[in-house]
Amino acid sequence: MSSSLIIYASTDGHTKTISEYIANFSRDRNLVKVISLSEAEKIDLYKFDKIIIGASIRYGKHSKELYRFIELNKNFLNEKDSTFFSVNVVARKSEKNTPDTNPYIKKFLKISKWLPKKIGVFAGKVDYPKYRFFDKHIIRLIMFITKGPTDVSKSYEFTDWTKVEVFAKELWLKS
Ligand SMILES: Cc1cc2nc3c(=O)[nH]c(=O)nc-3n(C[C@H](O)[C@H](O)[C@H](O)COP(=O)(O)O)c2cc1C
Repeated sequence: MSSSLIIYASTDGHTKTISEYIANFSRDRNLVKVISLSEAEKIDLYKFDKIIIGASIRYGKHSKELYRFIELNKNFLNEKDSTFFSVNVVARKSEKNTPDTNPYIKKFLKISKWLPKKIGVFAGKVDYPKYRFFDKHIIRLIMFITKGPTDVSKSYEFTDWTKVEVFAKELWLKS
């Protein structure tokens, strides 16, 4: 059986939670390592047969660190069995929740030098109580404009866990 690495680029932890959820569907959990992007910068990626990178969106973008990591490892990523998934709240809308319709995936594929073999997109979470004043009110405004929930005393999880499960099972099918 091959070994796999899931790397998450997450600010508030939800992409990490999705990464662990995906790992738990593998046939042998001991053969799947889940680490942050900053940890991934320090290890030998060549030890792994399969690489999965999950990254969240903040203010319309995947992080600079993600693109830097891809730039440094593009040859390795392009020749490997590699997967990318993005986590954002635009994906809570059914017309924007596939790799072909999600604007952040489209943008990612335009600017990234890595063409993943498999791509996913999952709706994330809005955790108002956790955010600082500025972020809380900007997100609230974006939610208001896009007809989302605006009660800042609450946390809203939009992730369709069944969709994540289906994605994970397809991913591990070949391992
Ligand atoms: C400051 C901030 C900015 C965000 N900007 C966007 C955005 O532009 N578009 C979007 O779809 N989601 C946006 N989100 C939602 C995040 O992508 C979502 O909360 C995701 O679950 C975060 O994942 P993480 O916890 O792994 O960082 C934003 C969230 C925060 C806190």
